[in-house]
Amino acid sequence: VRNAFRRAGFLPTSSNNFNVLWGKPLKIAEYKELCEYQKVNHFPGTYLLGRKDNLARVCNKFRRVFGSDSFQYLPKTFVLPGERTELLQDYEEWKGKLKKNDCDISYIVKPPAGCRGIGIRLISDPNTQIKEKAVCVVSRYISDPFLINETKFDLRIYVAITSFNPLRVYVHENGLARFCTVKYSRKTRKNRFRHLTNYSLNKQNPNFVKNTNASVDDEGHKWGLKAVWKWMRERQMDVSTVMGKIDDLILKTLLSIEVQINTNMQLAVPCRNNCFELFGFDVMLDSNLHPWLIEVNTALSLASDSPLDKSIKNQLVTEVLNMV
Ligand SMILES: Nc1ncnc2c1ncn2[C@@H]1O[C@H](COP(=O)(O)OP(=O)(O)O)[C@@H](O)[C@H]1O
Ligand SMILES: [Mg+2]
Repeated sequence: VRNAFRRAGFLPTSSNNFNVLWGKPLKIAEYKELCEYQKVNHFPGTYLLGRKDNLARVCNKFRRVFGSDSFQYLPKTFVLPGERTELLQDYEEWKGKLKKNDCDISYIVKPPAGCRGIGIRLISDPNTQIKEKAVCVVSRYISDPFLINETKFDLRIYVAITSFNPLRVYVHENGLARFCTVKYSRKTRKNRFRHLTNYSLNKQNPNFVKNTNASVDDEGHKWGLKAVWKWMRERQMDVSTVMGKIDDLILKTLLSIEVQINTNMQLAVPCRNNCFELFGFDVMLDSNLHPWLIEVNTALSLASDSPLDKSIKNQLVTEVLNMV
């Protein structure tokens, strides 16, 4: 981020008289102090997407209003302890199918505001494997991921918003694909390196193969997004349909918080152009190439520890700065 700022001709300042602020979300009182020419990299209230419990709540609410048919991109998710009864009912409906598919995993259990795979568990039976009063978010496990080289991966899609009113969304053409470091199987819950695609986790596996050259975007356990699309096109897969579905899920997710954000903007932010934000949408494809939203990151890791990372993230931040 510092490099991109420097290249764009910005100088660091600790004064309040900045042009662009890139950091944590501001407090409401701080938003109120902004001048017309100032830009900050968060809208007030996007924590509604960034926390897993909030994301589930806003999306479930939207789904109840508009019907579930249009919202098939979020795995069924329950916020516990409040929705324990609904979860157990869902399990009754679903367990027959799991058994038929010879699948040992029913749900994935996550801390409500966790990251990097910390505290995540895969379970078979929620009746016995989740404590009565546990505070957690529980989603149906997508047990048939689309695999490359027999390995599960997810996609990091970078999305920049320059305005919520009117909504202006830019989806970066490149991103990252993060691979597991153990071949996939749905028949065993054992081994997090098989089921969780988090880079921070998999890089701890001695098997992890790092990218060494920015121009080779399909080596090792982290690829460029474009390399995944290329791999799929070479195998006659319909990439444009997948991309269209991903755009659709991004827009619907953002629309689900639009009213709250615009209310907060009216209350606290002097000018509608004061804010912009860069989000990381984590998306997983299943074996039918249907994209599922895993989570939305509002506090992105823009650190780069491979040449490919550096090239993609540098370009990303530079383009975001140019746009805003
Ligand atoms: N519903 C799901 N089905 C299958 N795999 C999932 C599901 N949810 C998460 N995962 C896997 O677990 C990883 C961690 O989950 P995530 O929600 O991103 O938590 P964290 O904030 O800890 O990264 C994801 O990157 C993905 O590989
Ligand atoms: Mg994650």
